[in-house]
Amino acid sequence: MNIEVILSPAEFDPLSRRDLSSTTCVVFDVLRATSSMITALNNGAEAIIPVSEIPEALALHDQHQDYLLAGERNGLRLGREQTGSVDFNFGNSPREFTADKVAGKTIVWTTTNGTRAMRSCAHAEMILVGSLLNLRAVADVIDQLRPRELVIVCAGTFEQVAYEDVFAAGALIERLRHHCDNENLTDSAHIAHATFLKAGSVDPVRALARNARKLQSLPDLAGDIHICLDRNVIKLNAALMSDGSVRALEGFAARLA
Ligand code: MLT
Repeated sequence: MNIEVILSPAEFDPLSRRDLSSTTCVVFDVLRATSSMITALNNGAEAIIPVSEIPEALALHDQHQDYLLAGERNGLRLGREQTGSVDFNFGNSPREFTADKVAGKTIVWTTTNGTRAMRSCAHAEMILVGSLLNLRAVADVIDQLRPRELVIVCAGTFEQVAYEDVFAAGALIERLRHHCDNENLTDSAHIAHATFLKAGSVDPVRALARNARKLQSLPDLAGDIHICLDRNVIKLNAALMSDGSVRALEGFAARLA
């Protein structure tokens, strides 16, 4: 298996133009988009439609009034100040997506980096939603699918690299390392793997990551950090489908015991 890591949002545009027809991608936005999506699907959400821009989310909501709206800018839930018309139902906190609010629902979702990262590789053969919460499930399904080409997409923060996403990419590589020799990893994959090994635990993520420090400074959102940094507590895989929706995978891929 060849593994490459997209470290920074600067690579999204080139990625969107690459032939990914034989490539599996895993997208990580640990703080917090992909962690919250996995939580919502685990709590019974039917589907998530990730979109890059606020007007796209509003247009979908206009067409399907039963869809719920989720997302943030600058970490905060979108309201009519930004949309001009509607308040979003959810921000981007995993604690908001409880079963009573999301079971059976379709949620249109737009965030600063996470949904943009997903759209940049939406043409890949398979696009898995990665987080630390479902890390083992993601590794197990890749173990079974054995793609020849794996690209791990780190969502980053604004236009920069995000430590927590690189850490998660490295943690996934550690779990898949038996499939690869050194020459199967790009330099970016070696960097991610070394970052994970050097960190040793999530403590450096908590202390050093810009996103963690920002959430820490917002009393309502500080509680999201330890929830998103929890590992292997959700046994669910989810993928971005060709119709543009993210859904829990059925069968062997969904819940690996
Ligand atoms: C993003 O998509 O940029 C992040 O998930 C931001 C956030 O923590 O809300």
